[in-house]
Amino acid sequence: MANIRHPIVDVHTHVYLPRYAAELRARTSAPRILNWTNGAKTEERLLILEGEPSGGRPIGPQYWDRDEKLEFMRRHGINISFVSSANPWLDFLPADRAQTLAHELNNDLEEYCATSPPAEGLSGLKTLYGFGLLPLVPDVEVSTIIQTIEHLKTLPHIRGIIMGTKGVGKGLDDNALDPVWHAIQAARLVVFIHPHYGVDSSAFGENDNGHVLPLALGFPFETTIAVTRLILSGVLDRFPDLRLLLAHSGGALPQLSSRLASCIQHDPIVANRLKHDARYYLGQLYFDAVAYGSEELTFVTRTISRASAFKSGGGTADSLAGSTRLLFGTDHPFFPPLEASQKWPSVENNLEAIRRMVGVNSKPEQQANILGLNALRLFDLHDQVYT
Ligand code: URA
Ligand code: ZN
Repeated sequence: MANIRHPIVDVHTHVYLPRYAAELRARTSAPRILNWTNGAKTEERLLILEGEPSGGRPIGPQYWDRDEKLEFMRRHGINISFVSSANPWLDFLPADRAQTLAHELNNDLEEYCATSPPAEGLSGLKTLYGFGLLPLVPDVEVSTIIQTIEHLKTLPHIRGIIMGTKGVGKGLDDNALDPVWHAIQAARLVVFIHPHYGVDSSAFGENDNGHVLPLALGFPFETTIAVTRLILSGVLDRFPDLRLLLAHSGGALPQLSSRLASCIQHDPIVANRLKHDARYYLGQLYFDAVAYGSEELTFVTRTISRASAFKSGGGTADSLAGSTRLLFGTDHPFFPPLEASQKWPSVENNLEAIRRMVGVNSKPEQQANILGLNALRLFDLHDQVYT
């Protein structure tokens, strides 16, 4: 088959590996998988947070069976997926268990990817690659985290690391993480920053709105706060080659970045701390395109594009320059259709949003970048196919 010039690559797609699902089944408090009986029907449900609305959500093989992932990809024309463990990763475990499980799950994910079918029309590539896990929990030795990064470097199909927002307990702006950022940068692993905790649920009132508020607002607000703190702590100044991919298009960070810059300029504690205007750092980050709307993606792209103007010390930014940092994703297997359908609206909406972005809608080459080529470049796989 001829080379596919415009592959579709999914950078935001999850799995609960069988070993991880077994860990959750053995638990008696959240996060856990439990049997739930409703009349004559018993099903497994996933409870990821204590007090979660509606007793959690149904969970089944789509979360762990690789054939279901491959069938989902086939159905939506996705050529390659970069699969990550779903939240809450190892956050809830004691340090020694987190270390052991990180090692085992990283080997499991390597096997899951290494034995996947070849990507059709993309010579030398597999259909599946992965983001590994680090034992990021309180009381872990930093040297243990570094050892896990060394292990990940030996796994050829693991191209990055997924992490939440807690770090080793104090957040991603904790100076204790500097050796970790250093090691990740040196290893050229892409860090996928993904939310789990949301924000204080008392902000969401007493009406039963299912999972809507924690997912639509809590998740992206959590990412916004975590990444803003990371910027304020100077991590992006100290590690400018770190490649961070933000879930859900960076939450509210693009929308709030000028306000952030202004607040910094007016604050004597922070004003002289950073090397650049806060908006500059958006050009150092990567954003998934999981925003479901073309206007939002157009806006995110423009705010990333503006960062290059700060880089060059002013001037007008090419409004599409930022599109090289936007990458298609699905969030599979979350957000399945409520009624049986061949194609998932969550996926179709994200594909359509990319194709309709202002400026991008008339430029197939820009669409191809966002849909797949940006990902192949970010994960250092582009040259392997297109030389
Ligand atoms: N819900 C989750 O818990 N995780 C996701 O990634 C998406 C929805
Ligand atoms: Zn996700």
